[in-house]
Amino acid sequence: MSTVASKPIILTGDRTTGPLHLGHFVGSLRTRVAMQDQAEQFILLADLQALTDNASQHRKVTSNVIEVALDNLAAGVDPQRSTIFIQSQVPELAELTTLLMNFVTVARLERNPTIKEEIRQRGFERDIPAGFLTYPVSQAADISAFRATLVPVGDDQLPMIEQTNELVRRFNSSVGSQVLLECAAQVSRVGRLPGIDGKSKMSKSLGNTIPLGATPAEIASAVKAMYTDEHHLRAADPGQVEGNVVFSFLDAFEPDTGLVEDLKARYRRGGLGDSEIKRLLESRLQAVIAPIRRERDRLAMDRGAVMALLQQGTKRAREKAAATLRDVKRALGLSYFE
Ligand code: TRP
Repeated sequence: MSTVASKPIILTGDRTTGPLHLGHFVGSLRTRVAMQDQAEQFILLADLQALTDNASQHRKVTSNVIEVALDNLAAGVDPQRSTIFIQSQVPELAELTTLLMNFVTVARLERNPTIKEEIRQRGFERDIPAGFLTYPVSQAADISAFRATLVPVGDDQLPMIEQTNELVRRFNSSVGSQVLLECAAQVSRVGRLPGIDGKSKMSKSLGNTIPLGATPAEIASAVKAMYTDEHHLRAADPGQVEGNVVFSFLDAFEPDTGLVEDLKARYRRGGLGDSEIKRLLESRLQAVIAPIRRERDRLAMDRGAVMALLQQGTKRAREKAAATLRDVKRALGLSYFE
């Protein structure tokens, strides 16, 4: 028996539809970096999942694989300690998806609240790509193939975790043994970063983001455009902190919480101008992004080296997924030639 306590396994990832932004940094990248020594971590570049609603834009999906990898690496994910891999290059995941597809009904897939909301947002109505409706099964395969027990996600992904665990339970009870493991969601403490317009979460499709590779001028103009409190017209007026994007960002990026509390009190009382809080936030964001952008630019000069890292990671990921798939197929009796 091993005397070394084994680390929990984490599976996390992003669809490769565009470069990552500060919302990803706050919600997930920072945690990935922090968890590297505490867990065995698999980071998925979810190009197959991205294709489920981007079939007509496959070039966008494939060209962003390296961009998302660069964002992870530049933010501090160490490919020696974390396994970064490309979903489509692990065919075992597709095979496991096909097998798991038999353990869920179409009605259950249609009830998934995240899927329902995404169908509404994308205006699919009755024209839902079959791959899109079933991507929660593919996500369940991603998670269970690595025997992950911890999945760091935003709260919009909780129905995916619930559906994964349902599939795992149904599979295990059908074969009469605990082949697959249930997982737990780890919801980010900071929660969501709002978009700079203050209307909703930061999202590329809404055009309200600050990308991780933003230039100093882009950072400056994003902070300048940031929504504060529309009734706070003069510095002397009392202002509102709730829903004020500058304060949400200060909460996320200013480590001196005492300072932030003090500023909030002054802003509420009146006598603190938007220009002053924006100046402070801008210098914070410049300091946070500068080293990431520098590292990103440096790594981007040798894309071949980055692809080699992804190839190594994908090889490691395949070995792990293949072992689980073999157990699943054996449990189903699909192992005729062994
Ligand atoms: N659904 C995630 C996103 O929208 C990407 C993803 C795919 C994922 N498979 C996963 C996340 C498994 C966590 C676990 O970006």
